[in-house]
Amino acid sequence: MAKMNENFLNLKQNYLFIEIGKRVREFIAANPDAPLIRMGIGDVTLPLSPCVVEAGKKAFDEMGVKETFRGYEDSGRGYDFLREAIAGYYKTFGATIAADEIFISDGAKSDSGNISDIFSADCPVIVTDPAYPVYVDSNIMAGRQVAFTDFVGSTAPETVAKDSLIYLCSPNNPTGQAYTYDELKKWVDLAIKTDSIIIYDAAYESFITEKDKPRSIFLIEGARNCAIEICSLSKTAGFTGTRCGYTIVPNELEKIKSTWARRQSTKFNGVSYPVQRAAEAVFSEEGQRQTKEATAYYQANTKIMMTALTELGIDFTGGINSPYVWFKCPKGMDSWEFFDVLLGKANVVGTPGVGFGKNGDGWFRLTGFNTRENTEEAMRRLRNIL
Ligand code: MLT
Repeated sequence: MAKMNENFLNLKQNYLFIEIGKRVREFIAANPDAPLIRMGIGDVTLPLSPCVVEAGKKAFDEMGVKETFRGYEDSGRGYDFLREAIAGYYKTFGATIAADEIFISDGAKSDSGNISDIFSADCPVIVTDPAYPVYVDSNIMAGRQVAFTDFVGSTAPETVAKDSLIYLCSPNNPTGQAYTYDELKKWVDLAIKTDSIIIYDAAYESFITEKDKPRSIFLIEGARNCAIEICSLSKTAGFTGTRCGYTIVPNELEKIKSTWARRQSTKFNGVSYPVQRAAEAVFSEEGQRQTKEATAYYQANTKIMMTALTELGIDFTGGINSPYVWFKCPKGMDSWEFFDVLLGKANVVGTPGVGFGKNGDGWFRLTGFNTRENTEEAMRRLRNIL
């Protein structure tokens, strides 16, 4: 029989959110009438904005007419109209990105899982702990050793191995914290000093409210020589089920850029035309107004969660620049213990912090992506069980 890639045997048995889904299904089977509230995976609940839907429908209509029908998109990097719209969006917060540095994809998960394909199998990998599991899993699949930096990782270590791949996420999933300009500059300086490359996941940038937190690594001097940024419309514009994201590889990293283009053109045939048109609408003036309303709605939910945790005297981070609130499990419980208590007694699904790394043990994550009613009800139930 064909030999398997044995690196896969080094993965945890289940991907975190699959494991949570399995436990929740078992709970529902035993408690079919439980009024479950899901605040585990960061999945949105509001529908797409009207102008986004309109743009997608119009594009589908074009696909039904001979003169405007489109087949494969031949650059493999996404249509110019969307890449220019994204470059224009970056300009609104002061980052200069050229449209030809942007690669459109079906989301940040795929890109952050695939990007390491173009780096050597013996590249040292640095991940902050806790972290989004895709960074670790994708490198384990490739047979790389992963080293972890402390907890939130807001402070860059003194040094890292030469030629490392460094994964950073800000606003951070799961802790909800965001780097300041100064903190991020330290990472950029470190990457330049050690000839490393930063893979910067900015999927939650649209939740930043504080002025001292950059929305892109390309707002930091030197980043164009050492960073790749990955972003998504999932949380920004409710695209979790629609799928669209992008990766920015600056022209200064020419070899990485051309190799990523080569990898994508072999293994990926692009995002559908209607979805790219819908994504373009997100960056229009009206699209920005409508999507920001949705973000504000979720931000009000996280405020409700932060108020409840403050009243309960529970330590937490996040919420201010992020849809996630990350808190210490009450009464010294470990993460899965609290998961079971919250599910069993309050019928609320959250995410156990240990699923993001060993430093997450004893911590827990809830999302602000549910409805207002469910968020308020979940906080009522949390108060009742503690
Ligand atoms: C999360 O809950 O951490 C994210 O929604 C997962 C993802 O975006 O893939």
